[in-house]
Amino acid sequence: MKKYAQNLTEKIISEHLVWGRMKVGTEIFLRVDSTLVHDMSGTLAYIGFEAMGIDKIQVPAAVTFQDHNLVAMDHRSLDDHRFVASAARRYGSMLSKAGNGICHSVYYSRIGCPGTVLAGADSHSATAGALGMLGVGLGGLDVSAIMGGEPMELKMPAVIGVEVKGKLKPGVSAKDAALWLLKQLSVKGGVGKVLEYFGEGVENLSVSQRATIANMGAEMGATSSVFPADEAVRRFLKAQGREEHFRELAADPGAVYGMRLTLDLSRIVPSVAVPPMPDQVKSVREAGPVKVDQVYIGSCTNGSYYDLARAARVLRGRRVHPDVNLLVSPSNRQVYQMLLEDGSIGQLVRAGARIMECGCGPCIGLGQAPPTGGVSVRTSNRNYRGRCGTADASVYLTGPETAAATAVLGYLAEPGDVMEDLTELEQVVEPEAYPVDDSLLFCYGQESEHTELIKGPNIREMPVKGPLDADIRARVVLKAGDNITTDDIIPPGPEVLTLRPNIPALSRYLFQKIDPGFAARAEEYGRSVIVAGENYGQGSSREHAAIGPMYLGVKAVLARSISRIHRSNLINYGIVPVLFADPADYEAISAGDELMMEDAPGQLLGGNGTVCLRNLTTGRDIPGTVSFTDKELELLLAGGLLPYIHNR
Ligand code: F3S
Repeated sequence: MKKYAQNLTEKIISEHLVWGRMKVGTEIFLRVDSTLVHDMSGTLAYIGFEAMGIDKIQVPAAVTFQDHNLVAMDHRSLDDHRFVASAARRYGSMLSKAGNGICHSVYYSRIGCPGTVLAGADSHSATAGALGMLGVGLGGLDVSAIMGGEPMELKMPAVIGVEVKGKLKPGVSAKDAALWLLKQLSVKGGVGKVLEYFGEGVENLSVSQRATIANMGAEMGATSSVFPADEAVRRFLKAQGREEHFRELAADPGAVYGMRLTLDLSRIVPSVAVPPMPDQVKSVREAGPVKVDQVYIGSCTNGSYYDLARAARVLRGRRVHPDVNLLVSPSNRQVYQMLLEDGSIGQLVRAGARIMECGCGPCIGLGQAPPTGGVSVRTSNRNYRGRCGTADASVYLTGPETAAATAVLGYLAEPGDVMEDLTELEQVVEPEAYPVDDSLLFCYGQESEHTELIKGPNIREMPVKGPLDADIRARVVLKAGDNITTDDIIPPGPEVLTLRPNIPALSRYLFQKIDPGFAARAEEYGRSVIVAGENYGQGSSREHAAIGPMYLGVKAVLARSISRIHRSNLINYGIVPVLFADPADYEAISAGDELMMEDAPGQLLGGNGTVCLRNLTTGRDIPGTVSFTDKELELLLAGGLLPYIHNR
């Protein structure tokens, strides 16, 4: 049979296909080469793994990171670290210890290989696409099942071909290019799709720059982002002392894409995403000179050597504005060491920056929250309201050079506003050799099987519910608008995030920012439904945004659209995701209405993709659409992934 010209995404998928047809939108199952969990998603992933009763991790390379919650305000953070470390040892995962760096940065630098597939319990797992691999963000329980030997289940994505042309001008960063793409595609434009980059301009992007662009595919809702594995990847792996992991990979000539976009790097300008959404992108000039209280340079998006050394160049010989608090956080220990050795840290410190440890911290509102009503300019990837830890702060997203210039002037500014000669920035290039020291990356194998799991008092059993109700009769506990993020469902910040392994305590905080009465009302109703607008559950892969509602009795989410990862988290916890057949019917339901889905199992199994919910309060029928794979139906009927695996 004549082989058709494949794009790179199709090549990687076909090499890993266990079952299914590579037809866009249909169910496929992929063999997974590696998994990633961290101290936040990993606590539940390992509680789930334990509940599945499987002895050993079955994927070739599982990695567990201690990187998110490094603010040990009380025993809970380190209890979580100790628990995931004991689970890594017990079940045979690598452990990247606190201090080694942020998961995505360490992963692509030290572990990832071109042509492989990563299933990560973190929404930014697509960062690994910088190496020419397929990184997919999933919920923690999905990753538990994969660690237990299940293949990864996906809908075959459509592939958007992004043809890259030209070269970035001095003072313009890869982040500006990522923001330009967000402006074109919006926070929903990548849903069900992989963004694949090709074209002569790709060679003008270093692996670190590609990682920035791949990382922000998550903000577009994309399943993944993929760059070719070319000379730049070979040089990067060589610089990391692992050239033997290189394998050249690119789309076949004449490969077809479902949609095409042209990214002309030479036309990109310093840009900013204004609050509260990462796709609300303007040029820095359009945004105007916004006065700033805090600048944070770091995160998995922009914490590379390349990023921080360029920020240091902008700050060299200059001072941080007296009204600005500048925080700098290298993304991993290699980066930190190189910045120390080449004098960049000295330049940053002399300028007045505060150097923080290698971790997520401020990005997720764990420490360094801006002041009340403050303005924070950040190089991270999300600016949702409250994510930074201060409910009424405004977060602007920029590249590192723009952030550094802003720190100097005290208002939103371009690098050219503080530097006369922007070509100076070009002296910072991808290093030819990184300092390789994996002494904080521990490999645990079979010898550890007698290790006990160490659970602190905050680590509780996973709540499990029964099979799907015969009739779902439930009240509308919340009628939410568009673009509800998982940060809106589970507020970020230390108070709540440290409760993640303790679902009963955590569920008290659900929707606290937008509806403080939610938990009490859900308890009063017993069985309930959430009604929402477009893009419900966008943002991080936080599965607590599904477990908490499940614990409080939410039976279904009826929305105009639901984000990919959140939809699968809902199914994993036995909550039925239904879309309005007619989006206008959103108006036909009010908070407090009683809805009924008669013979829910029969309707879901009916196979014609439609269901009917009767609004018992108004007497009106609301048609809904559903589209489940056979496996998803089995999960919903069983009451979620854990009971499903138990039943087997
Ligand atoms: Fe960490 Fe923020 Fe990235 S929480 S993994 S730095 S998106």
